[in-house]
Amino acid sequence: MHKKADTHYPIHDHLAHRWSPRAFADKPVTAQDLGSLFEAARWAASCYNEQPWRFIVARREQQHEYQKLLNCLVEGNQAWAIQAPVLGLGIVKKTFSMNGKANNFAHHDLGLATAGLMAQATALGLHVHSMGGILPQRAAEIYQVPGDFDVLTGFAIGYPGDPDSLDESMRASELEPRTRKPLTETVFSSGWEQPAAFLQT
Ligand SMILES: Cc1cc2nc3c(=O)[nH]c(=O)nc-3n(C[C@H](O)[C@H](O)[C@H](O)COP(=O)(O)O)c2cc1C
Repeated sequence: MHKKADTHYPIHDHLAHRWSPRAFADKPVTAQDLGSLFEAARWAASCYNEQPWRFIVARREQQHEYQKLLNCLVEGNQAWAIQAPVLGLGIVKKTFSMNGKANNFAHHDLGLATAGLMAQATALGLHVHSMGGILPQRAAEIYQVPGDFDVLTGFAIGYPGDPDSLDESMRASELEPRTRKPLTETVFSSGWEQPAAFLQT
């Protein structure tokens, strides 16, 4: 299934074709491809090159590890994420290693790393569905995450599957077109909410 972005300006195919499925095909992701995704994340920019992101990843083949990770998602996300062959958690280190001071950009930089991972995934025909609906405290306990780190997101990785495998409400949202605010609502120039002059309207 494809849900290519209906863009106002041309963008790279790998960005246009990214979307967040809930139905995943019963097809494993190779170790090589998985390695490429995290390699892409590794090369993200970060404040002071801190690389504050950490990932915990479980493949379906490791049943025990997979179940452990699944248990860190809220029920509503478990319902669909269980179809995905790979599950993961995104974690941030909240302080700079060089001086122990708060890193206010750590969450931003996990986002950048995740965006790189997603672009690489799309290039390989894979999809990544991020989740805020996780149980961070449970995850921190299970994986013994140190206090200096925040368990922030979950994600499911795999090949898109058959929307008919989902329940009615999830199937409906799976088939809905993707929508976005117009650029004029988010890109300003001369003042707040003044659309940037370069935008075509
Ligand atoms: C940080 C973050 C948290 C999200 N949390 C959830 C979630 O808990 N459950 C879910 O089904 N989708 C979740 N999503 C997916 C978004 O709903 C989705 O990205 C958004 O609707 C845009 O759709 P698209 O990714 O297909 O373009 C999350 C996405 C992000 C980036």
